[in-house]
Amino acid sequence: MSTPSLLILPGDGIGPEVMAEVVKIIDWYGDKRGLKFDVSHDLVGGAAYDKHGTPLHDDTMARAQKADAVLLGAVGGPKYDVLDFSVKPERGLLRLRKEMDLYANLRPAQCFDALADFSSLKKDVVAGLDIMIVRELTSGIYFGEPRGIFKEGNERVGVNTQRYTESEIARVARSAFELARRRGNKVCSMEKANVMESGILWRDVVTEIHQAEYADVELSHMYADAGAMQLCRWPKQFDVIVTDNLFGDLLSDAAAMLTGSLGMLPSASLGAPMENGRPKALYEPVHGSAPDIAGQGKANPIACVLSFAMALRYSFDQGDEATRLENAIEKVLADGARTADLLGEDGVTPLSTSQMGDAIVAALEATI
Ligand code: NAI
Ligand code: MG
Repeated sequence: MSTPSLLILPGDGIGPEVMAEVVKIIDWYGDKRGLKFDVSHDLVGGAAYDKHGTPLHDDTMARAQKADAVLLGAVGGPKYDVLDFSVKPERGLLRLRKEMDLYANLRPAQCFDALADFSSLKKDVVAGLDIMIVRELTSGIYFGEPRGIFKEGNERVGVNTQRYTESEIARVARSAFELARRRGNKVCSMEKANVMESGILWRDVVTEIHQAEYADVELSHMYADAGAMQLCRWPKQFDVIVTDNLFGDLLSDAAAMLTGSLGMLPSASLGAPMENGRPKALYEPVHGSAPDIAGQGKANPIACVLSFAMALRYSFDQGDEATRLENAIEKVLADGARTADLLGEDGVTPLSTSQMGDAIVAALEATI
């Protein structure tokens, strides 16, 4: 097979800082594991606006469509707040997601033991936690019509519509089942079939896809409100959770915070399989461009590094190498390495962004 391509879009603020550490790790894989990528770099967000007057140039969009995976840092910053809505940095990211039709948003909640004390939950509830929330990203109540604020008699009424087609449910269900096969082989689907017709259809379609194509995967259903309770009570009962756009927005943010800092949270957004069988894919940390710490070498690069680990696993079939990278991070944290966001006020000197990157590379090196 030809060398897989990876398009890197560092973006703004701390985006380029954390991405520089990922590049060290990509280079390490090329040198030491013979894992070569055809890497190219381009601009997105404010950086693209500064050069081209648009937050995503058409050429960059075309390259993203062709890439085996896109890795993005973060976009935005106060400098761009004055811009017209149509050219705001975030529009570049939204265009990527929309034109690549990335309908499955993957948000892992993974707890590194060394950070278990960081959680608001008891240590034994979160230690070793590794679950994945798959949120439908391109349909549902954020997009359904009719929508708007209307006049009805002498008062206003705000309207949003939850609308899902069978095919929209089926494709995100398939993404979840495929993921489960590479993980703990278990999917829990969450909706509110008790009070919403779209939830009844959701449950029916997920069940049909399961019976027809994924009977080897264990499937359960839960009402989303009960699911929220179970996530806080005993999150380790889950492996993959699949849910709609609205519930997924809430559940993924809640689940992520079971395990600690924004600087630790990766994500992936996947679309339909391309000709080579790989899904269209965009990997990015959950955090933004963090203007308050940009340019100071304080950013935690781990969220971005873990996003690359997800790319290894879900785009490049390198699950073992992804595990190697996650274990290296676990080791570094267990040895006490901390960026400032992972420290209290206890006087320990934090590592800089690049020191953290170097520590991860050193831990990788120790595995071979
Ligand atoms: P933010 O995620 O950039 O920052 C929130 C807080 O978390 C800040 O105090 C920041 O210093 C800290 N933080 C974030 N990432 C960190 C890391 N890796 N290491 C250490 N600390 C970290 O969110 P905020 O402040 O709401 O937005 C800042 C800018 O980023 C805005 O322009 C916003 O529109 C944009 N943004 C972009 C996103 C993206 O590119 N996907 C997502 C969220 C916000
Ligand atoms: Mg959200």
